[in-house]
Formats: sequence, C-alpha cells, structure tokens
Amino acid sequence: MKTYNIGIIGGDGTGPEVTAEAIKVMDAVSAKFGFKINKTDYDFGGERYKRTGEILPDGAIAELKKQDAILLGAIGHPDVKPGILEKGLLLRMRFEMDQYINLRPVRLFPGVECPLKGKGPKEIDYCVVRENSGDIYTGSGGTMMKDTPQEVASQLAVYSRFQVDRCLKYAFEYARKYGKKARGVGPENTLGLVGKTNVLTFLYDLWERAFHEMGQKSYPDIRRDYYHVDATCMWMVKSPEWFDVLVTGNLFGDIITDLGAITQGGMGIAAGGNINPEGVSMFEPIGGSAPKYTGKNVINPLAAICAMQMMLETLGEEEAAKKIDEAVRFVTANKMKSLAAGKMGYSTTQVGDMVAELVAK
Ligand code: IPM
Ligand code: MN
Repeated sequence: MKTYNIGIIGGDGTGPEVTAEAIKVMDAVSAKFGFKINKTDYDFGGERYKRTGEILPDGAIAELKKQDAILLGAIGHPDVKPGILEKGLLLRMRFEMDQYINLRPVRLFPGVECPLKGKGPKEIDYCVVRENSGDIYTGSGGTMMKDTPQEVASQLAVYSRFQVDRCLKYAFEYARKYGKKARGVGPENTLGLVGKTNVLTFLYDLWERAFHEMGQKSYPDIRRDYYHVDATCMWMVKSPEWFDVLVTGNLFGDIITDLGAITQGGMGIAAGGNINPEGVSMFEPIGGSAPKYTGKNVINPLAAICAMQMMLETLGEEEAAKKIDEAVRFVTANKMKSLAAGKMGYSTTQVGDMVAELVAK
C-alpha cells in the first residue's frame, strides 16, 4: 500500500485543535482511497520555546526533510515578542527547505458570506502564486545609530534571475494545469504578473522581462497579463472575476493574499502551501494561532482541512483531494451558519466529523 510520511507541527494556540480535525479527515480519506499515512509529531512552537529557550533543536530541519510533506497548524504566541518565532521557525523552515512557492488559492465556497457586493463563488475563483524564498524577506539591511534621533534603517528587496525563473516556471505550469480553461470554467488559461514596474524599475523589470521571455518561448498557450500591485488590490475588490492565476514577489504576495483571504470568507477558510516542487512541502492554514479561542472547541478547522487537501493534491492524491474539496463545499453550503469562530452553529470537532463522514462515503 502506498504510504506517506507526514510531519505534523500542531504549533501554538488553536493550531493543535485545527490540525487534529485535518488529521481526522486525512485518516478517513486515506482509508477510503487506499493509501496509508505515517504521522510524526513535532512540538515546535511558542510553548516549547518558552520551556526550553530553543526554537528549533539541532537536526530538526534535517529530520523534517525526510518527510514526504509537513502539516503545520499555527505559529505565534502572545508571550513571545513578534518576529522571534516567525523568523526562527516559520521563515527558517520555508528557507531551509527551499519552499520557494507559496500557493494561495482565493476561492469563495458556496454558502459563505462574502464582503464584496454581488460576488459569488463564480467570481471569486483564482489563485496567487507567491514567491516564497526572496524579496525583502531575505534582503540585506540593518540599523545605524539606533535609539538616537539620527537612527537610520534599511531593508533591501533582492531577487536573482534564478529565483524569478523557477517561480515563473511553477506559475506557468500551474496555470496550464489548473487555469480557468483547464478547469472548464473559462475560455483560456491566464497568468497575471503582479508588480510595480512604474517605481521598482530594477526589481520588477527583472520579473517582467523574465515573465514575457518564458511565456513567449515555452508557454504560448497561456495568456499573459500584467497588473501593478496597487491596482491589483482595487480589482480584487471590484472585479475579482478577471483573475485566474496571479504570480508575484514575496512581500506583495503576502499582502494581497490577506486581502484575498477576506474576500473568500476570512481566516477560517484560507489555506496555503509552502511548496518545494523538488523537495518537501509544508501546508498551513494562513489564519494564525488565534490564542483567545484556544481550547474552547469553537475555532473553524476548515482552513486546516483545506491545507491538508492541498497537501494531498500536491502529493498526487488528486481524487482524494477532490473528494475533500466537495465535502468542504457541501458543509459550507448546507450546514455551517458562518465561518467565524463560535458562530459556525457547530463546534470545531463537529465540523471535522461532518467532513470526515462525507469523505468516507
Ligand atoms: C504569512 C505570514 C508570514 C509571512 C509571517 C507570519 C512571517 O504573514 O504566512 O503570510 O509574512 O509570510
Ligand atoms: Mn501574511
């Protein structure tokens, strides 16, 4: 029987609760579709850091690299200063495992309340390919004359052609496989580059040249669009139906996908994958640890379930992934009152049970 080794990092706050529901659904779907999941738990996160003073033990990354994929709950602790766990754990894992793609679908599911007037699941149905290894996230910088009135700070956005090309290749391939034409919901597959070529005339000039060169040469079947990032924010609100697959740098991708998430129903549903197409990928709900809801059995587990769904799709279990997608859509359309914590009409575990039952059918 096909077996996958999955590393589980429940993490902080409500992370372990939502991860447990994702595992429940994963166990149900693997039994149904005839593959096996071999789980290994890791206790990384704020609690461990507070207890031991250590964020990631020696050898942890090497061990994670032996897994087939990783499922992450949430990282972030109210008693730990911002930046420590983010840089020491989440970003370190992304960088050291070279998960150079951050894949963030923006899909409104049926029955989910959308803050955009007149927009439904047909209009909000696109995906952002966020570059995940470079940009201002790794650029050099520093401070001078700190804590004086003359203090100077800098943080540089840096991209190599290599980083840009490998990201664009993934995005074009993704558009070919999962674009609107490929999915039978539109006349063509489109990749839109989101940049700021009017101001970042070095950085996004590199992206734009690489984009058109690669598109012309290897992906003539895919339509190419370009949008400035500020205008993209407007269109994500006014005309999200224009978009199919978008590709952009790390920082712009971070920002526009939070906007995307709120248009698809918020943090209870938004999921993302940190993908190394040649290595080990890590999947996570993008909502964070939501500490005030910890242990109350009220948090929405669907984002974690959707992250696990993306994990199975990336591992090649496409039928199982499709089944989960259908089950989640059924539950949002017919069962849940809201996606917000405490207002779902069901508890965390009940939502997990409903999805698990549906995928087992
Ligand atoms: C995200 C988060 C992270 C990021 C933070 C927590 C470092 O906002 O996954 O979008 O900026 O990438
Ligand atoms: Mn973010």
